[in-house]
Amino acid sequence: MSLVAAAAPVSTLLREATAQAHERAENTGFVQHLMSGRLTVEAFTALVAQHHAIYLSLEALGARVRDLPGADRLVRPELLRSPALARDLAHLSADRAAPPATAATRAYVARLDELHDLPGYAAHAYTRYLGDLSGGQIVKTMMQRHYGLGEQGLSFYTFEQIEKIPPYKSGYRAALDALDLDEQERARLVEEARAAFAFNEAVFTDLGELYPPAH
Ligand code: HEM
Repeated sequence: MSLVAAAAPVSTLLREATAQAHERAENTGFVQHLMSGRLTVEAFTALVAQHHAIYLSLEALGARVRDLPGADRLVRPELLRSPALARDLAHLSADRAAPPATAATRAYVARLDELHDLPGYAAHAYTRYLGDLSGGQIVKTMMQRHYGLGEQGLSFYTFEQIEKIPPYKSGYRAALDALDLDEQERARLVEEARAAFAFNEAVFTDLGELYPPAH
C-alpha cells in the first residue's frame, strides 16, 4: 500500500477498493433483468429470501461485536433490516414456502457466522447498509414500477427511522473513519469488503441461473 493510500480515510479506501466490484455486481444479468422488468415477482421474492438469510446472520454478527470498543457508532438499531425482510417475505410468499437459500447465500451466511471482529462487521455493514441506502432506493422504485409492488413487500428499502439519507450516509462514513484501526486491521477491513461484494455477486449469479428472463 502506498503512503498516500495508507493515510486515506477508511471510507475512501473502501469506496475505491470496491468500485470495480460494485460495477460488476450492478451489471450482473440477474440485476439488469430484474431492474428492467424482465423478471417476475417470484424472482424478486427469491432475492428477498436470500437477503433475509443474509441479514439474520449480519445482524447476529452485529450483536456479537456490539460491546467491543468503538462498535456502538456502527451497530445501529435504525439499520436493522431482518424484521422488515421477514414481513416482506411473508407478504410475497403468501401461503407458499419461501424460496430456499442458494449455495452462494449459504457460503455468505457461513462467512458471516464465523466472524466476531469489528473490522469484519464494518466491512459487511458498509457493503450492505450503505448499498441499501444508495442503490437500494433505486431498486425500490424499479420494483414498484415493473412489478406493481407496493410498500408491502418492499419495506426492506424503507428506513423508517432515517429522515434524510445523504447526511446519514455521511455520518456512517465518518463513523467508519473514526475506527481506531492499525494498518493490518485497515487492510483486513478492505479485504473483507471485497469479499462481501464477491459474495453478493455470487448470489446474483445463482439467482440468474434460477430465474432467466422471460423475454
Ligand atoms: C441495482 C443495482 C445497484 C445500483 C443501481 C446501485 C447504485 C448505487 C449508487 C447510485 C451509489 C452511489 C450513492 C452515493 O454516491 O451516495 C451506490 C453506492 C453504493 N452501493 Fe450500490 N448499487 C447497486 C447495487 C449494489 C450492490 C449489489 C451492492 C453490494 C451488495 C452495492 C453497494 C453499494 C455501496 C457499499 C455503496 C456506497 C459506496 C460509497 O460511497 O462508499 N450496490 N450504489
